[in-house]
Amino acid sequence: MTGLRRLAAGARLVLATHNRGKLREIAALVEPFGIGIVSAGELGLPEPEETEADFAGNARLKATASAQAAQLPALADDSGFCVAALNGAPGVFSARWAGPDKDFEVAMRRVHEQRAGVADERAWFVCVLSLAWPDGVSASFMGRVDGTVAWPPRGTLGFGYDPMFIPLGAAQTYGEMAPAEKHADSHRARAMAQLAASCLPDLEQHRPD
Ligand code: IMP
Repeated sequence: MTGLRRLAAGARLVLATHNRGKLREIAALVEPFGIGIVSAGELGLPEPEETEADFAGNARLKATASAQAAQLPALADDSGFCVAALNGAPGVFSARWAGPDKDFEVAMRRVHEQRAGVADERAWFVCVLSLAWPDGVSASFMGRVDGTVAWPPRGTLGFGYDPMFIPLGAAQTYGEMAPAEKHADSHRARAMAQLAASCLPDLEQHRPD
């Protein structure tokens, strides 16, 4: 069931992710709205298998599973790194390319090796945020940032594929940027801006005088 519902200020929200990098970024984006955050890990919720074929399907699956298990609204992120020379791969398989050890040096090298010799440097990050309620209602929002592939990877900030992505108009990779600079206009921030407009408390109404 798809529907728009707004969280009340002070409501509790489960962040349905076990990825610490995402958790940190989503918490920073949600905190200004005066919402109490609890992570799926803190509640001991299981990590469902991502069985859908696209970002939106997987985000909804994760949010709905956590909302039902916790009986609280839940927010999930499904995101990935897409490379034009690889026809959009790793895409929904971005986490899986890092293998069981979640080694993103391995994943980045695999991207580099598979695109070897192809001149097209375009790449993009996609994020779908899905907010689900315990009764099954959910809403999803997509954000995308375009850029180019960097090799070798640069920077130790951020997570995942950040060191090999330069957003359009920037000189630094996401791995070199201060978190606040990435948050200001990342794929996740773009999805969050849309979600906030429809589903988070209205900051103007709740701002103290
Ligand atoms: P999933 O959404 O749990 O399937 O995982 C998505 C994967 O995409 C993460 O493990 C990261 O490797 C990658 N990813 C998603 N967003 C970002 C980002 O902002 N920076 C770097 N890598 C990301």
